[in-house]
Amino acid sequence: MASNLSEIRGQFPFLKETVNGHPLIYLDSAASSQKPARVIGRMSRFMESEYANVHRGIHLLSERATAAYENARTSVAKLLNAPREEEVVFTRGTTESVNLVANTWGRENIKPGDTILLTEMEHHSNLLPWLKLARDADANVEFVPVLENGVALDLDSARRLLAKGPKLFAFVHIPNTLGLENPAADLCAWASASGTTTFVDGAQSVGHQPVDVQEMGCDFLACSSHKMCGPSGIGALWGRHEILSAMPPWQYGGEMVDRAYYDKPATYREPPARFEAGTPPILEAAGWAEAIAFLNDTGLEAIREHSVSLANAAVQQLQKIDGLRIFGPVARQAGLVTFSIEGVHAHDVAFFANERGLALRAGHHCAQPLMRMLGSPSSSRASFYLYNQPSDVDALVAILHEAVAFFR
Ligand SMILES: Cc1ncc(COP(=O)(O)O)c(C=O)c1O
Repeated sequence: MASNLSEIRGQFPFLKETVNGHPLIYLDSAASSQKPARVIGRMSRFMESEYANVHRGIHLLSERATAAYENARTSVAKLLNAPREEEVVFTRGTTESVNLVANTWGRENIKPGDTILLTEMEHHSNLLPWLKLARDADANVEFVPVLENGVALDLDSARRLLAKGPKLFAFVHIPNTLGLENPAADLCAWASASGTTTFVDGAQSVGHQPVDVQEMGCDFLACSSHKMCGPSGIGALWGRHEILSAMPPWQYGGEMVDRAYYDKPATYREPPARFEAGTPPILEAAGWAEAIAFLNDTGLEAIREHSVSLANAAVQQLQKIDGLRIFGPVARQAGLVTFSIEGVHAHDVAFFANERGLALRAGHHCAQPLMRMLGSPSSSRASFYLYNQPSDVDALVAILHEAVAFFR
């Protein structure tokens, strides 16, 4: 990707922005990614000449909109190598996908005394819905521990806990904090050997590297468009067809019903329609499909290599800053670096960086229990994506040196 980096960067209008006279350097893609011109253009063309409500109208614009919406489903299915397109349910994003499964599959399948297995490195999105479900169902929750300083998941413990046959194992593929990748295929294989259903949080991995649900062997996977160059407001839940077909609806309303009556229970449509009540994110689907085409054209393996190599370069240089602690493994497996600096508050770091045009994230990164356990309730994070360049790492390092000198 290094050879065509300037061409890729040329496709992102946000890079023309400046902050206090400094060029904008965006190292916050793990929170949300920026959008290339072709996604912006696609969405504006769609609104001009293809927009209408989907599925219901027998008129030209509704046909165009329906085709774009369903083509987006095909794009997502291909991106994940899903066996069937109907296994892709559009949601508002990863968070809604988790809540959907917790409130449908979860309420039907988690019984008093059952165990839900999570890990200690979950984002609140893949933590709080399961904790609520466990409380409501009188089920137990266990956690696969994280090794010292968050360098990896404790795989021996994972294997042992999975051998006990929990009802569900929900885990993050790439956490938004530690710069590592969990061995999802191994974890799913151990889970399925015990009859455990698996839910994978793919928010940070899908669109950042190849992800193949068949190779992974999971039962559910969730992802968000806005993390992969698409618009916010849409994401997906992928689920095995036989599991989705047996799940009750979650939200009720238009489009999800087969037959509705005043005096007897309604019957519901097959997935995915059963889980897409109401007017869906139509424009966002068109934008997401374009983002996926863009990522495919660029190459997902190349995108992964690029982001990880920038993160590794950052780790090498940041390690030299006195009092700077990096969470996670030294050799990065994902394109982000979370760190704290002794004597300097993370919010001060982010504020100082912003003054110089550098966008960092500061805080608990929606993983409060993990960061508390690692002894750093507040930290800073730099995350890299396909539009970042090696000089962004140099700028990060220089600004952090300056910040340390200023605040200490
Ligand atoms: C690992 C992880 N899981 C889940 C989410 C939630 O994604 P969304 O806000 O798109 O629902 C995020 C977002 O930061 C994340 O990083």
